[in-house]
Amino acid sequence: MNEVLRALRRMHNVERFAVGIYRTQIRAFPEKEIADRLKVAMANEQEHVNDLQARIRELGGSCSWLGLFFQTAGKLLGFTTTLLGKLFLLKTDIRIERRAVKDYGDFLQKVDFDEKSRGLVQKNLEDEKAHIRRWEESIEILQAQR
Ligand SMILES: [Fe+2]
Ligand SMILES: [Fe+2]
Repeated sequence: MNEVLRALRRMHNVERFAVGIYRTQIRAFPEKEIADRLKVAMANEQEHVNDLQARIRELGGSCSWLGLFFQTAGKLLGFTTTLLGKLFLLKTDIRIERRAVKDYGDFLQKVDFDEKSRGLVQKNLEDEKAHIRRWEESIEILQAQR
């Protein structure tokens, strides 16, 4: 398997992890404003999953069978954070998104992507940066309500 497909498959797994996390976290927030943000982020992560999957197929590859494992792991982590308080939850999400930004950046540096795949990775990277800002704002919203 070539390095582009291998990288796309890795990202696809991590995106499934992200969908799992946000899906389980939504119910932790009676604050509609933050719950809505989590729903939007979940849909955005699902978009990342779908776009990566489509690109992997276009390149003649298939998605990793570990995807389900990653999604389940995301749900478990998401559920755990709901038990530990909203602030902890949001800080965890920021940490996870920062890691995603770093990983996407590393892939962009190291992997010789074709133009279309590179565009997809760059778009996802920008989305993850936006997620970090969303969770930072959400922390401010929470703190303002106290
Ligand atoms: Fe993502
Ligand atoms: Fe994200």
